[in-house]
Amino acid sequence: MKGEARNEGMRLRACLSELREYVPGKTVRGAVKLSSNENPLGASPKVVEQIASMLKSGDLDISKYPWAEREEALREEISAFLHRFHGVSVPTENIVLGAGSDGILDTLTRMLLERNCEALIPIPTFSLYETLVLLAGGVPRFVHRSADFSVPSDILLELLECNKTKMLFLCSPNNPTGNAVTKEEMRCIADACDAVVVVDEAYAEFASHSFLEEALNRENVVVTRTFSKAFGLAGLRIGYAILPDWLVTAFRKASLPFSVNSVALEAAILALQDEEHLRRTVELVRKEREFLRKHLSKTFKVFPSEANFLLVDVSPLKAKAVCDALAAKGVLVRDCSSFRGAGDSFIRITVGKREQNEKLLAAMQDVVAEV
Ligand SMILES: Cc1ncc(COP(=O)(O)O)c(C=O)c1O
Repeated sequence: MKGEARNEGMRLRACLSELREYVPGKTVRGAVKLSSNENPLGASPKVVEQIASMLKSGDLDISKYPWAEREEALREEISAFLHRFHGVSVPTENIVLGAGSDGILDTLTRMLLERNCEALIPIPTFSLYETLVLLAGGVPRFVHRSADFSVPSDILLELLECNKTKMLFLCSPNNPTGNAVTKEEMRCIADACDAVVVVDEAYAEFASHSFLEEALNRENVVVTRTFSKAFGLAGLRIGYAILPDWLVTAFRKASLPFSVNSVALEAAILALQDEEHLRRTVELVRKEREFLRKHLSKTFKVFPSEANFLLVDVSPLKAKAVCDALAAKGVLVRDCSSFRGAGDSFIRITVGKREQNEKLLAAMQDVVAEV
């Protein structure tokens, strides 16, 4: 054991000692899981049925590597979807695919950061950005968001003047705070910097606006998207990004070959063809988000959200105590203490179906009485 520890120190890259392990939302069979921002309606039943039948018939053959033509077919479906849903015409050549938005963010970070280059990260936000920057040998620079969690563009702009800054991560709507970057903030930031602004739109289908147009019209804006949230395909690990022309070829070079598996490719194509399921999901989330917000705000400060979750300040209670007490009652929500800069009194609750939300509210009431 002692020898192993010594070998670790000698062989591992130094950045690994700084890294924190990603803490995923807990899963407990039978519990109401409102901790990972998944789709409360699950995947589209049409997708599940058709994938099962394609696997059975051999039309989808998992003994073969994924086909390039199916990637092309998916990029065409994505382009058509973005036009129908957001009214933006995105050429297929500007769309790239990856193993979830995580996979895409990883590729982008490896492409853009050299050793000691800096990346700006307004916190609290999705913790993976920090991990990826450190793994790429870069230096994460954190900027605290304002009290309402808006991005302090003046502070960012000052920091951006430094030539070492190569990337800026903007999550919109932001995980875990739920607020979106405003068009004005984006204009101001993107106009002023040479760094690549990566806009993580994992939750954009639930929001009032998206930055797709900025990715098409600006050389320094990239938008990443996922099939894990509104499309209910989190287990298949598939996402996409809209890149300006100059980044597309480099992205293909830097991606691992076949990083998107063949089942995920077909499921994503089918999910885009069942837009009814997506619309039902978005409608349910918006309605239930308001239901939860209204009830929770009788007791706690609840922040406005454009995503499929709500950030709740449970102070004077502690987030960990509340999450543990809820888990003991069979309801899983996210303790945000592990998000850098979030403090110890925030919890994040994924919007569920009405019966799940009612269970959460009842459990919350008991917890408040007990803790
Ligand atoms: C802001 C944000 N970006 C990206 C991801 C990861 O998405 P994917 O499943 O596409 O890798 C998540 C997942 O929770 C997220 O919250």
